Amino acid sequence: MVNTATKHIAKNVVVIGTQWGDEGKGKIVDWLTDHAQGVVRFQGGHNAGHTLVVGQGDAQRVYKLNLVPSGIVRSGINCYIGNGVVLDAGHLLGEIAALEKDGLEVKSRLKVSSGCPLILSHHVAVDVAREAKRSADKKIGTTGKGIGPTYEDKVARRALRVYDLFYPERFSEKLKEVIDYHNFVLTNYLGAKAVDFNQQYDASMQHAIALKPMISDISAELYAANARGENLLFEGAQGTLLDIDHGTYPYVTSSNCIAGQASAGTGVGANMLHYVLGITKAYTTRVGGGPFPSELDIDTEGAPGTQMSVKGQEIGTVTKRKRRCGWFDAAALRRSAMINGLTGLCITKLDVLDGIKELNICTGYELDGKKIDLLPIGADDVAGCKPIYETVPGWSENTFGVKTWDGLPKNAQNYLKRLEALCGVPVAIVSTGPERDETIVIEHPFA
Ligand code: GDP
Ligand code: IMO
Ligand code: MG
Repeated sequence: MVNTATKHIAKNVVVIGTQWGDEGKGKIVDWLTDHAQGVVRFQGGHNAGHTLVVGQGDAQRVYKLNLVPSGIVRSGINCYIGNGVVLDAGHLLGEIAALEKDGLEVKSRLKVSSGCPLILSHHVAVDVAREAKRSADKKIGTTGKGIGPTYEDKVARRALRVYDLFYPERFSEKLKEVIDYHNFVLTNYLGAKAVDFNQQYDASMQHAIALKPMISDISAELYAANARGENLLFEGAQGTLLDIDHGTYPYVTSSNCIAGQASAGTGVGANMLHYVLGITKAYTTRVGGGPFPSELDIDTEGAPGTQMSVKGQEIGTVTKRKRRCGWFDAAALRRSAMINGLTGLCITKLDVLDGIKELNICTGYELDGKKIDLLPIGADDVAGCKPIYETVPGWSENTFGVKTWDGLPKNAQNYLKRLEALCGVPVAIVSTGPERDETIVIEHPFA
């Protein structure tokens, strides 16, 4: 029987990207796993790229995760993929095999929701063909993984979901219908090649065999884990400004990326989300198309944007595209803080700003002759925003790997305090390097 009294036993923390993704969510989730027993993905798919750096020197290992939750790297942590995730079964199995080859035990610790919509070959074909058809200024710059078309099928109530895999006849029937529909669009409207039913059917039946032991009722699993007193971490993918409803639409991804989705995308009650940690870079990046008010030039030697790009190694994990870089945007963060209900901020990549003489912080915009201090909704208004900057002094000292607040230069402390004041959320954690230990704790989310 469901007993709501379990809500007081465990503590659950939601980790959310507050910008346009790649804020360092993976590093922080991995770092926080010493206080948790489970890590849960609740939206997105293998468009995510989370990089984890574990250990020092020759023993250092770098893990790049797309679908597998970042808890997998610490032994004993259970990992869960909730119903809000769109699942490319072939990709997941490949990722699991690569991690197991690297010596990690994955299959026995990973559970996948039977309700995840499946990404199939026609979704990828439609994603790619649609992007190819768009004119250069209208391209979203998707990752080409089929994410958008799969979410479309989910909402249209024609998606095949994980549980369909285990009923071959039903699967075949549904697949036939959905492939016919997409092949019509692919060939008649998008000018692309049709996908092959048999190939997809055979691949899916193979995937079904390998996936079966991992499939579960994730809501029930998480409820039971909390009831046992286990703390859970909900790992966001993408970032708030890529949210389908609240982001710079249409230059967004196709899922809700905000904290509330941790409930809808797993089937865990909203009263079980106890702390929302917003991850934000000390500057801003974006990969793909769409407006970016505080964007900087990243190609001129010696320019601040170029330093962010080069020193921050701002190359997309999934598509290997150069990430666009710009100043910290406090007006965008204010919207993120508001819609996620952030409890605390984690500011990452502070070290990347070392040596920049003066730093600009975007505090608001001029839009249609008016001053505003909150990022507007949707791409059209955001594209019209002219940033208003406040200039603060930078620092010449090295902050890479600093582990204490007192170890930071005064100007770096002042910069962080200013961001905190402008965003209206306390800074709980500061990250000064990619490795686990390169972290300053001010207030621990699991305290
Ligand atoms: P995610 O998608 O939010 O998990 O972020 P990504 O992993 O795509 O991108 C963040 C990158 O920055 C990764 O390569 C991390 O290893 C790296 N990183 C994370 N925190 C820090 C930091 O504090 N300093 C530096 N220099 N690198 C960091
Ligand atoms: P993580 O979890 C940064 C971007 C794409 C594109 C838009 C839509 O690593 O932060 P999609 O393939 O989702 O339909 O593409 O969203 N995008 C990301 N940008 N980090 C990500 O994930 C992203 N996932 C999608 O570049 O602009
Ligand atoms: Mg990433």
